[in-house]
Amino acid sequence: MTEKRATWTSRVGFIFAAAGSAVGLANIWRFPYILGMHGGAAFLIVYLICLFLIGFPVFISELLIGRTTGTTPGFAFEALSGKKPWRYFGNFTILTGFIVSAFYSAVAGWILGYLVEAFRGNLTRFEAAAEAQSHFSTLLADPYWGLISFAVFLFASTLVLFFGVREGIERGNKIMMPALFVILILILARALTLPNAWSGVEFLLAPDFSALTPTALMIALGQSFFTLSLGQGTMVTYGSYLAKKDNLVQSGLTVVLMDTLVSLFAAVAVFAIVFFAGLSPDSGPGLLFHTLPLVFGKLPWGDAFACLFFFLVFLAALTSQISAMEPAIAYLIDRFGWGRKKATFVVAMAVFIVGIPCALSNSVLRDVLIFGMVPLDFMSFVASSIMIPVGGFFAVMLVGYWWGMDKAINQLKIGAESYFAIWPLAGYFKVCIKVLAPLLIILVFLSALL
Ligand code: PHE
Repeated sequence: MTEKRATWTSRVGFIFAAAGSAVGLANIWRFPYILGMHGGAAFLIVYLICLFLIGFPVFISELLIGRTTGTTPGFAFEALSGKKPWRYFGNFTILTGFIVSAFYSAVAGWILGYLVEAFRGNLTRFEAAAEAQSHFSTLLADPYWGLISFAVFLFASTLVLFFGVREGIERGNKIMMPALFVILILILARALTLPNAWSGVEFLLAPDFSALTPTALMIALGQSFFTLSLGQGTMVTYGSYLAKKDNLVQSGLTVVLMDTLVSLFAAVAVFAIVFFAGLSPDSGPGLLFHTLPLVFGKLPWGDAFACLFFFLVFLAALTSQISAMEPAIAYLIDRFGWGRKKATFVVAMAVFIVGIPCALSNSVLRDVLIFGMVPLDFMSFVASSIMIPVGGFFAVMLVGYWWGMDKAINQLKIGAESYFAIWPLAGYFKVCIKVLAPLLIILVFLSALL
């Protein structure tokens, strides 16, 4: 059988690991561009409301499910509900994490590829937007570039996971996350001291409510789920490595605040840079890959700045990727009693195989369409728009109805007594977990599909 199940060595270790999972491409790449496309401050307000009413309660639910049962989602869901079918629901969330890790590593590979470009001084040469754009498209159209960068990124993530929960995940995050924060602050400081930078901040502070369409609402909710790594077994698994008496509310709050702060800092830095160069803030997904490189050439020490920037995004992506793979690894260990190394190897190989079509989606497989989407977009759509909301829904339904809110609150209180004594937390969690979260997830889910 298995050796004793792993746990975090300390509260700080857990906080860095969970924050490492949460802070990723969704914060540094996606958040700034969706904010730019959906009305700046107006979108931010809706996003923060989503976080407060849904993201945070679901986040706490998943961690609590993990901490209470000390096992992977399938067994955890079964144990708390007392019903066998719930095991499949739990295992479904592990599958979601697995699919996320496949397309996520393909996209993160582009970041790694761009880090190499930055080192070679290739990101400071662009004179016009079209040049930066065509540089990006040329790289994407090269199957070797896509495949190799994907494989190297996956290899780096696997290496961290090989060393296990304490020596790999926790130690890796304890080094990478502080590094990430330092780099982010440096970049922010540089960005804010550029001429005209503050127009970027003003843009973020001036709400354009007309941009708040139902689609924007849906995107805000989806973003809060994806950025907190919800609905895909990650937080249940990370929660299962927690000691029983940790103050979950406090740790969870710290992680969500860190995640939100990184999103905000990234957005401010990106918009300061964009406005400095007189570019448009609503250029969408290309913001990171062709809008920013257009600016690097205009900055003193542009090459160093570009390296630092893509290294930051690389760290963020790496610490997220390992957390998307961990539930599947933990499952193989818990279910079959496999050793860590064997489980890690098998999951990495599977992610590699499933990720290949994603890594080739912009080159050789660009005409292979599934429901009108290339494999990368298809997997990202299925996981983010369908599987993740479904997984989040399972978690709140389990806590709110099958396990029972009162039992859950009693568990949550362990270690967090002082918080419950001051704040009306029990009421807040009850309303959000039993009513608001399931209701809004269904609404958003339906509006996405219809
Ligand atoms: N939260 C990560 C991000 O913001 C993505 C992620 C998804 C991580 C799923 C783990 C699991 O980029």
